[in-house]
Amino acid sequence: MSELKYENNILRFGNISIDEISEKHQTPFYCYSKSVLTNNYNNFNNIFSDLDYKICFSLKSNSNLSLLRILASLDAGADVVSEWEFKKAIGAGIPPQKIVFSGIGKNENEIKHAIANDCFQINVESLAELKKINQIAEGIGKVQNIGIRINPDVQSGTHEKITTGSLENKFGISVNETLEIFNKTKEFSSLSITAIAFHIGSNIKDLSPFKNSFEVAKNLIDKIQLNYNSLKTIDVGGGISPEERNFSFKDYYDMLISYFDKERFNFIFEPGRLIAADAGILVSKVLYTKISEGKKFIIIDAGMNDMMRPALYDAQHEILTSKLNDSDHNIETEIVGPICESSDKFMRTTKFANIQEGDNVVIKNVGAYGSTMSSNYNARPFIEELLIDKEEIQIIRKKQSFDDFIKNEL
Ligand code: LLP
Repeated sequence: MSELKYENNILRFGNISIDEISEKHQTPFYCYSKSVLTNNYNNFNNIFSDLDYKICFSLKSNSNLSLLRILASLDAGADVVSEWEFKKAIGAGIPPQKIVFSGIGKNENEIKHAIANDCFQINVESLAELKKINQIAEGIGKVQNIGIRINPDVQSGTHEKITTGSLENKFGISVNETLEIFNKTKEFSSLSITAIAFHIGSNIKDLSPFKNSFEVAKNLIDKIQLNYNSLKTIDVGGGISPEERNFSFKDYYDMLISYFDKERFNFIFEPGRLIAADAGILVSKVLYTKISEGKKFIIIDAGMNDMMRPALYDAQHEILTSKLNDSDHNIETEIVGPICESSDKFMRTTKFANIQEGDNVVIKNVGAYGSTMSSNYNARPFIEELLIDKEEIQIIRKKQSFDDFIKNEL
């Protein structure tokens, strides 16, 4: 992340040092960079300029309203999976004509809300859901655009908990059943089934799983077009990893148009992590250090409730000290949070700077699936979130107050 760098041994995020931010804001806090978010969006967006397409940012990765407003100003659409994500997207200025509603278990209220508010496309994951949506659309008196989310049954080569495109996973409709659904489209008079959608997993670093899913989708789409010629949109989901990838956006684009005719189809992309991950850091303070029989524990004030990816997926997020300090020492070290769980562990290493109580550390690449997956576990508040825009630090989410925390409990 070019915005996060040491200058004279002091870690800076853009133009401001981490220690300077933490003098004014209580740790732990999330901090985002407007320029990184904007550049990430633009770099991806620029590749597709000769297509008819929408980039629908996946709100599950980060749905902070201020960040969404920035993306809305860049013309982004949204991929949402709940009524509140839908409302947040609209509230941030993303028009419903650029919103795709995904998810395997949408309830009746969510479906009604989406249809009544002109959602561009609802991606459907079962025949039962298709029937339900048809019934609701009929009641409202509208014809709803539908994408059939297929399960292409491919391996995505990512962590097993974030893989979604194989038939072992609950997601999508098999290719054979999709063909059967197209045989029955007349039964769904309030639906316009215009898209095939797929999303095979997240944090994918290799091009081949995408290639395999394109191959399956192309064969299916060719059959559907031959018989019905009703498809207009190909929704390729998200999943591209922002780091350690062995392909470029251009490789991805070239492969896409080698499978699907860009004159015939429009495209939907649903990136989340790619846009938001390295735009965000988590700043935390060392509370205590202790050495227990030769093993060192650095106890910081951020916990798994603030950022659960390491606990849930054994995810490795690099941790930097706010002052560069060359007194690394070789001792088995764990950087842990204050939560009463042994899985509340951010990093395990044998070499880490010899930092002291009160020093700040920065956990990198947490702009996606950091804040959105946080919780109140151990009755800890949702933490403050900041946005850095050049020299300016803006609070974009207040730390939750105790009154707010208990107000719905009777
Ligand atoms: N579209 C659909 C239908 C999805 O299910 C997802 C993510 C995306 C798009 C965005 O995927 P991305 O571009 O961000 O990879 N909590 C996990 C990630 C779960 C992803 C769920 N679906 C993590 O922290 O790694």
